[in-house]
Amino acid sequence: MKIGILTSGGDAPGMNAAIRAVVKSASHNSIEVLGIKHGYKGLIKQELIPLNIFSVDGISEKGGTILKTARCPEFTEEQGRKEALETLKRFEIDGLVVIGGDGSFRGAEKLGRLGVKVVGVPGTIDNDLAYTDYCIGFDTTLNTILECISKIKDTDSSHEKTTIVEVMGRYCGDLALYSALAGGGEIISTPEKKLNFGDICAKLSENISKGKNDNVIIITERMYDIEELQKHLEKKLEISIRSTVLGFVQRGGNPSGFDRVLASKMGVRAVQLLMEGSTRRFIGIRNNRIIDVGFSEINDIDTNKQKEYDLLDELL
Ligand code: ADP
Ligand code: F6P
Repeated sequence: MKIGILTSGGDAPGMNAAIRAVVKSASHNSIEVLGIKHGYKGLIKQELIPLNIFSVDGISEKGGTILKTARCPEFTEEQGRKEALETLKRFEIDGLVVIGGDGSFRGAEKLGRLGVKVVGVPGTIDNDLAYTDYCIGFDTTLNTILECISKIKDTDSSHEKTTIVEVMGRYCGDLALYSALAGGGEIISTPEKKLNFGDICAKLSENISKGKNDNVIIITERMYDIEELQKHLEKKLEISIRSTVLGFVQRGGNPSGFDRVLASKMGVRAVQLLMEGSTRRFIGIRNNRIIDVGFSEINDIDTNKQKEYDLLDELL
């Protein structure tokens, strides 16, 4: 048996640990592994390299992905997927492990429908796949954000100032929500529970009137123009405010122990599923158990989310 593995979409800390687990588990079961570089792009352009236990030695502690990653618009077209399929046939690949987020899973599902045996491993800092409690990379990024906010808080408290911090997440507020739950912010606005400029201003004004002059306002990216929000608050409250976009700092860094363990468990499960002949299955973790679901379930509503927002109401 021969399997292929690729990482696709935004890189996430822990992707290397997942690659290592797939290669080690495959090797344990006498399965050959080909690494496909640059995600679906490399599948179309035939960028394949053999992987063995020596190629993955020591990689689990490193952020990013040794296989590189890319966004590949060609793959969203039928022609692109046809070329990818030809590569898989040419290299006699019997099964494919796709590590990525929801976009990559969409691509994997389409390949699966063409007859490819494919399994998805959720690797995205955004944690935007509702069927799984955690995606690989989320925990590391959360900790990075908390470290950054903690530094911002030192200076905010010294100057009794407020800072707006924009975090990643694409259209998912988990990074902002968990940062706030962990004590990182006083005001939070996410796509799931969006505050308008007026709401933010009112909350900030209330905090200041109670004597809380240093506030961190955490917002999820893509919701507002951060500078506009800053100007609005400064004008309305007649105070000086700072704003910071954390940006790519959040995607890098050594994966946390949690992400490495999660990635390792998921990588091993991916190989097992392919050995069992399963296809179009997407691995996740729910209630501390590794699970796998079909494509139709990947966006199933996370019922815990509302409970977590309710907790936040008690904390802020
Ligand atoms: P992520 O996997 O992190 O969500 P993207 O949304 O950028 O990242 O998707 C990664 C890649 O997956 C895209 O560049 C594209 O090649 C492929 N992809 C995304 N959406 C689709 C789709 N609807 N059909 C086929 N391929 C897709
Ligand atoms: O999906 C991961 C992510 O970092 C999102 O949080 C962010 O919106 C996006 O990727 C940024 O993409 P790019 O790498 O194209 O700037």
